[in-house]
Amino acid sequence: MHNLIPSAVPVIAIDGPSASGKGTVAELVATQLGFHYLDSGALYRIVALAAKQQNIDWDNAFAVAECAKTLSIEFKNSQVFLNGADISEAIRTEEMGKGASRVAVHAPVRAVLVNLQHSFRTAPGLVADGRDMGTVIFPDAALKVFLTAATEVRAQRRYQQLINKKQTNDDLKVSYDDILQDLRERDARDQARASAPLIKANDAILLETDHLGIAQAVAHVMQNYQLIRNF
Ligand code: DC
Repeated sequence: MHNLIPSAVPVIAIDGPSASGKGTVAELVATQLGFHYLDSGALYRIVALAAKQQNIDWDNAFAVAECAKTLSIEFKNSQVFLNGADISEAIRTEEMGKGASRVAVHAPVRAVLVNLQHSFRTAPGLVADGRDMGTVIFPDAALKVFLTAATEVRAQRRYQQLINKKQTNDDLKVSYDDILQDLRERDARDQARASAPLIKANDAILLETDHLGIAQAVAHVMQNYQLIRNF
């Protein structure tokens, strides 16, 4: 008999710090396997954006959590909609990255987003990327990967992305040193928080991408998943 309970749906959890390449790797793995994809960082970015739009202080845990409860979030192809408006680009700025890290510190805010994240777990499987996918949200994930690289390498990648995009005046003004400083602050905040901090799960595979291209990182994840599947 087939087991149709939701927990039977396999999850690949890919966690790691900002700009580690986990989003790109997770999306490509999901495409190769025909799995769904959850960019959990986008949820915190959306909450930060919504709070800003409503003049809510990112450090006000209660007000941000109340705001998060009211949001209607929709992912369609690679676009994100908040209350019907396309905010795909608006959440990708450095400001919203920082805001996401600030609102993500609050346990009540994280609690509001748990069910939404679980709802992405549908057949045939899910690849989820974030900070606490393997530790808190999907502790029974079939495969857990912790993807990382030296801070300088990640800052260089992020800087290059912004140069390539050059979409907003803010992006144009950002220097490598600003990005490096920002990443350090964000890593420190994400690692030091009491609620679901950024940490490698005990049973996660460590994948250091300093000298690894995206294709190699994807191949590594795929190989590990095939091993588990054939076990
Ligand atoms: O992955 P990202 O850079 O889009 O994430 C932005 C911020 O959101 C990150 O600095 C911390 C927070 N975040 C989190 O706390 N938990 C997650 N699962 C994903 C992101």
